[in-house]
Amino acid sequence: MKQFTSVKDIDNVGDLVREALQIKQNPYAYESLGKRRTLGLVFMNPSLRTRLSTQKAAQNLGMNVMTVNADKDSWALEFQDGAVMNTTTVEHIRDAAPVLGNYCDIIGVRCFPGLLSKEVDTSEHIMHQFIKWTKKPYISLESATLHPLQSLADAVTMVEHSRVKRPKVVLTWAPHIKSIPHAVANSFAEWAVAQEVEFVITHPEGYELDPQFTQGATIEYNQQKALEGADFVYVKNWSSFADYGKLLCHDQNWMLTLRHMEATNQARVMHCLPVRRNVELSDEILDSPHSLVQAQAENRVFAAQAVLKRMLENL
Ligand code: CP
Repeated sequence: MKQFTSVKDIDNVGDLVREALQIKQNPYAYESLGKRRTLGLVFMNPSLRTRLSTQKAAQNLGMNVMTVNADKDSWALEFQDGAVMNTTTVEHIRDAAPVLGNYCDIIGVRCFPGLLSKEVDTSEHIMHQFIKWTKKPYISLESATLHPLQSLADAVTMVEHSRVKRPKVVLTWAPHIKSIPHAVANSFAEWAVAQEVEFVITHPEGYELDPQFTQGATIEYNQQKALEGADFVYVKNWSSFADYGKLLCHDQNWMLTLRHMEATNQARVMHCLPVRRNVELSDEILDSPHSLVQAQAENRVFAAQAVLKRMLENL
């Protein structure tokens, strides 16, 4: 594997999920594979789970890990070709990325969208610049449009907790106080349609995701109807894609409570974290046996380890 930026970078979701589950049984089985190999992680935005789970995964494989918080403990990066750098940016990606490529065998980058321009964000300009100039295998730690390491961990978690062969999986929009990227929802959708599940997305009108990621899903604007018979409910806020980056709905009735769960098949509830309690998701769900959020976070390690293992085997 040379890059992991989307479900399209893997041949078979089931095989990768099985590999992650196998690693979970014996996390140190490949502890020599990464000896004298270095993983470089660049965070242009905050992270708890992605940072620590990817570091732990690399350590389980015997790798060295170097982490940089761009613009905090390294220089502010410029991404525009031909920029006259006489304002806030200090180092151009054309100069910085080859340095990373020189020091590291695999590069991971987190680069959120600005949510100001749909064109800029969907071009994945920053991610592509890192891939182009580091010339090294690349793992997305969440890009402007997708979060594949989260989605792989979510797929692993659903396989572990499914009680039926073809579960009904519902992705439901949740309220939030600020504009949130689409990456987790897009990514969950593109991975769900690649799995053996019945997949429904529910959200208020105006919150349709980018259709390139949702083809094959059923869209249902009535949340209660969508939840009927659900085995898994994935809760996530995202801002409008059509009215790009805008907040259109503040209806707190979209926040999942135990009352919403009555229509489901005793569904397990998922969220990528961090979660704003009692805004996106109620305490009564998060602190109940319905919740799988800690299982998802735990599986982030084995998802990252499966991806790194495949990259190391291909170096
Ligand atoms: N779910 C997730 O990506 O968490 P972090 O933002 O803390 O990495």
